[in-house]
Amino acid sequence: MERYEYQGKAGKEIIVRHARSSDAEDMRAEFCRVVEESKWLPILTATSRRADWIDWIHRAIHTREFLLVATILDSYVGHLSLQPEEWGASQHVAKLGIIVKQEMRGHGVGRALMLAAEEVAISNNYEKIILSTFANNVAALQLYESIGYSKVGKRLRHFKMPKGYIDEILMEKLLQ
Ligand SMILES: CC(C)(COP(=O)(O)OP(=O)(O)OC[C@H]1O[C@@H](n2cnc3c(N)ncnc32)[C@H](O)[C@@H]1OP(=O)(O)O)[C@@H](O)C(=O)NCCC(=O)NCCS
Repeated sequence: MERYEYQGKAGKEIIVRHARSSDAEDMRAEFCRVVEESKWLPILTATSRRADWIDWIHRAIHTREFLLVATILDSYVGHLSLQPEEWGASQHVAKLGIIVKQEMRGHGVGRALMLAAEEVAISNNYEKIILSTFANNVAALQLYESIGYSKVGKRLRHFKMPKGYIDEILMEKLLQ
């Protein structure tokens, strides 16, 4: 199984690899924490079960869905998902989602996951990656722009979060 190695900002080695069943609890727990932050994802309550994550990890082994996990010194520090678009004629397009563990943000983990995702996407015949983010998610916007994603649209007042409406920014990158 492929693994991708990157140098983090503090010189620590970041390994990105495909998720295993044993990652399910870390992925579930961090997903729930991000939902509880109520700042980055348009999900109001986290009803996420470990068994669902295990199913997703198994599904990713046999389909063109991919779940990547980043580790530092063998510990989970974040994950990323790639899923094919729903339309038959858009199977060359992957949708991306990413979460970095709260304590590990700003250390280069997000960049490592995004770069590994491109390699995985290209080697599985994807030609484009799409994603979206809250308009006030400066870290995400800067990360995506710094690696070549372009803004292609804005949906006004698209999410009604507890603190008010938020615009959605749509972004994409054509792969070589
Ligand atoms: C957005 C997120 C994935 C970024 O991951 P990260 O590991 O913190 O980012 P990195 O350390 O790899 O930084 C890569 C680039 O992102 C940008 N960036 C990261 N944190 C930033 C911040 N706090 N402010 C501004 N830009 C920031 C910078 O351009 C940075 O490059 P630089 O360090 O060379 O300037 C992470 O903060 C996260 O998981 N946030 C919560 C969940 C979320 O927002 N997911 C995305 C929803 S669309």
